[in-house]
Amino acid sequence: MKKKVTKAIFPVAGLGTRFLPATKSIPKEIMTLVDRPLIQYAIDEARAAGIKEFIFVTSRGKGALEDYFDHAPILESSLRKAGKTDLLEILKMTNMESGAIAYIRQHRALGLGHAVWCARRLIGDEPFAVILPDDVIAAETPCLQQMVEAYAETGGNIVAAMEVPAEKTSSYGILDIKEDMGSIISVKGMVEKPAMGDAPSNLAVIGRYILTPDVLESLNRMKTGAAGEIQLTDAIAEVIGTAGNVYGYRFRGQRFDCGSKAGFLQATVAFALARPELRDELMDFLGDITAQQKAAQ
Ligand code: UTP
Repeated sequence: MKKKVTKAIFPVAGLGTRFLPATKSIPKEIMTLVDRPLIQYAIDEARAAGIKEFIFVTSRGKGALEDYFDHAPILESSLRKAGKTDLLEILKMTNMESGAIAYIRQHRALGLGHAVWCARRLIGDEPFAVILPDDVIAAETPCLQQMVEAYAETGGNIVAAMEVPAEKTSSYGILDIKEDMGSIISVKGMVEKPAMGDAPSNLAVIGRYILTPDVLESLNRMKTGAAGEIQLTDAIAEVIGTAGNVYGYRFRGQRFDCGSKAGFLQATVAFALARPELRDELMDFLGDITAQQKAAQ
């Protein structure tokens, strides 16, 4: 019987250099889409997938993230006194059960693989999810929930995958396909950021994973061996060689790369348009500004 996935790692120790100077003093994950920080979208998705333990891999300067999930007694009591029950209700989504969140430090930004490895003692011998909060996915059924359902069928290791244009394959980990079964793809290899023309397919790995402890063991060996960035993709690729149970999952939904400025702006517009109270005004504005831009060209 497959063990349930109840733990998720949120690697948030990166430097976020693409958003400097903003990320000089605020963590990238606190940047907001409309009125919610990126981390809130990630937590909501994890909860919907049945995650009970939330493990953040943080670094220096990420204090705002820890505060975000704390109770705010002064703010709460002033809202209560003012009878602002709607705002109190909104604040509730930031409440976490005592003991449900753990913070681990990654002392140096040695790469995503290393960040995941830093959480190994809190994972133990169980399958676990990894969520990169800067990949935000708009979906009817939240992406991780779709993956947990797929995991119930396949077991093993599952990485979220999406088709990208040939000229973009060099920005992603790319799957080498063994058998394409539709939404589930059996994988025979993975290549991190292949040079253009060398990509084994156009299926790119994005920031959602369900992994087995085998991957942590593989990271253990890389930890002792490699210098520089330690890639999660390499550790998963090694598991393909030994256990062979690695699958891609074509999720249903739209992914926004909120680690890049263009992706963040697109997500802001898409999530704002999905809010009935903002939609009409924003549509009018977008129509006007697009017309002005076209006229000026
Ligand atoms: P990115 O590649 O987006 O790097 O990391 P970054 O540092 O966040 O941003 P840029 O490129 O400098 O603008 C992908 C994910 O992996 C985490 C990041 O926090 C992000 O969620 N990460 C990356 C770590 O936790 N530790 C690392 O050493 C590297």
